[in-house]
Amino acid sequence: MSDAFAPDILSGQVAFVAGGTSGINLGIAKALAAFGADVAVLSRSQDKVEAAVAEIEATGVRSVGMAADVRDFDAVADAVGKVANTLGQLDIVVSGAAGNFVAPAAELSSNGFKAVVDIDLLGTFNVLRSSYEHLHKPGASIINISAPQGSLPYPAQAHVCAAKSGVDMLTKTLALEWGPAGVRVNAIAPGPIEGTEGMARLAPTEEDRKRVEQAIPMGRYGRIDEIASLAVFLCSDAAQYLSGAIIPCDGGRSLAGPPQYVSA
Ligand code: NAP
Ligand code: COA
Repeated sequence: MSDAFAPDILSGQVAFVAGGTSGINLGIAKALAAFGADVAVLSRSQDKVEAAVAEIEATGVRSVGMAADVRDFDAVADAVGKVANTLGQLDIVVSGAAGNFVAPAAELSSNGFKAVVDIDLLGTFNVLRSSYEHLHKPGASIINISAPQGSLPYPAQAHVCAAKSGVDMLTKTLALEWGPAGVRVNAIAPGPIEGTEGMARLAPTEEDRKRVEQAIPMGRYGRIDEIASLAVFLCSDAAQYLSGAIIPCDGGRSLAGPPQYVSA
């Protein structure tokens, strides 16, 4: 984790991280906790929720977790209400639950397309919509987790491209609508990140990985802590005039055009 920030910059703040029980989102949740925020997490698996809460509590902050599917608005709204009652008004909301698999559009079922759009895009709306009434206003910071697929066409990723480009537009639209209330809404678009479920699905072999790395100007995968550092910055006082931005954190990958992942 970056040591570029004072260790207590998020002290007294409350964060809610949807999809915060593994990978990049868990890394963000733990980083927010490391800088002093109390952190709630939500995902479908009760086991993953309990493990994430234990990891976050180990940093010395308060944590709660809920098992729910972001596609279910009532379940998400119930969970967010419980977080606000337990930890207090939300200063930080991260929406990062997502699904991905490689499937050429001509072979993808309607339900497969819908599953990813519902998790990524409808899920983000559900998280943000149900959080809004519990946000600390003015001052709250919302971070959506997008992807390069939000702005670049990727072969065998029509479902993800459609979903994440929707997340990007939702980010900008809500920045416009909620800015007057003092709520900032931004998105991080990570590039390929080391040791994640996402890259295990997109580039499962060493050969795939080499091809992906060749298309990254910095020549390597990113690390979870590099995405988490950007999230901490976005919640900090240093970013108080930053809203409506979709920020790539990808070693320059998004400058290099559409990739050739497996099964293109
Ligand atoms: P991951 O470990 O699979 O994280 C996904 C999280 O979302 C898990 O906590 C998962 O937990 C939860 N989740 C999935 N479906 C859900 C649902 N329907 N309702 C509630 N929670 C749900 O994946 P990751 O690779 O770290 O990706 C995290 C985020 O970064 C995603 O938004 C992804 O699109 C984005 N991203 C990743 C990369 C990369 O290189 N990995 C690159 C660009 C963008 P449960 O299984 O318990 O539900
Ligand atoms: N290729 C093509 N279609 C696929 C698929 C694949 N690899 N995996 C799932 N699908 C289709 C299913 O066949 C189904 O469609 P159908 O009813 O027409 O057969 C549809 O997607 C829904 O599948 P289901 O398993 O019921 O969905 P789910 O809601 O339980 O799980 C997924 C959602 C499919 C996205 C699952 O991969 C998941 O839970 N992912 C979360 C973790 C993840 O993807 N992490 C990386 C984030 S970048």
